Amino acid sequence: MTGIRNQGPGISLPRLNRIGALCAIAAASVLTGCRQDMQDQPKFVPQRGSDFFTDGRSARPQVENTVARSQLHEDAYFYTGMQGGKEGDEMPFPVTMEVLERGQERYNIYCTPCHSRVGNGEGMIVQRGYRPAGNYHSPRLLAAPLGHFFNVMTNGFGAMPDYTAQLTPADRWAVVAYIKALQLSQAAKPGDAPAGVQPEPLSRIAEREGLPESIATDWAMPPTAVYGTPNNMDNGVPAAVSPAPGKGTP
Ligand code: HEC
Repeated sequence: MTGIRNQGPGISLPRLNRIGALCAIAAASVLTGCRQDMQDQPKFVPQRGSDFFTDGRSARPQVENTVARSQLHEDAYFYTGMQGGKEGDEMPFPVTMEVLERGQERYNIYCTPCHSRVGNGEGMIVQRGYRPAGNYHSPRLLAAPLGHFFNVMTNGFGAMPDYTAQLTPADRWAVVAYIKALQLSQAAKPGDAPAGVQPEPLSRIAEREGLPESIATDWAMPPTAVYGTPNNMDNGVPAAVSPAPGKGTP
């Protein structure tokens, strides 16, 4: 077979062009009617309300009984420090030297400004007028269960803010372990030292290293320390904290 096949009687070319043009105009007018630019998408900006939901919130609560990634807090004690509604008294993981060192590092960063390196609650911020922070060597805190320290860091306590944003649960437990070490160290007796180690009194170290004698005695709060809130508002904390025996006077 040769030549061009007979196409039969079809639509002539000029007519086709006309229909095409009409379609294009129709399509253009329809599309411009519902045009939406990318920079103008329907979405909820964080924290913005919505009248779509009856509670007016655009951020929706998690669907009941669903657990998002990293939210499966199976080990409740690890995350709360509470056992049966009470503060527990055990570590949720074994305390190694590494844990203690991590705890010491975190403690020195986050807690010393108020609690001081030895944990007597007379850190620099307190000396400059913040409410006296807890003294870890007071009889009540010496007897407090481990979960109490975790709880205080997790939920805050009186004038003390919580440290959940700064410290992961594992870090909070590491700090708990270090506070226990601090408590032991501050009440240590010569007999607590391992055999063969001869403990040296602080006063002698101070003398040898040319440090002021006061370094070996109890700290006193400087006159700059301020007790209570500036306008004596009741914040649920006694206005003046009575100092532990031998400690500084307000
Ligand atoms: C900004 C100062 C500040 C910092 C930093 C701070 N605390 Fe406190 N803390 C306080 C104050 C103040 C109190 C006493 C609360 C009160 O009397 O209102 C307190 C009390 C406590 C208590 C005693 C609670 C009780 O039962 O009496 C513990 C334990 C404690 N803090 C642990 C910590 C740990 C651990 C850190 C570090 C992660 C820390 N704090 C960091 C200010 C601070």
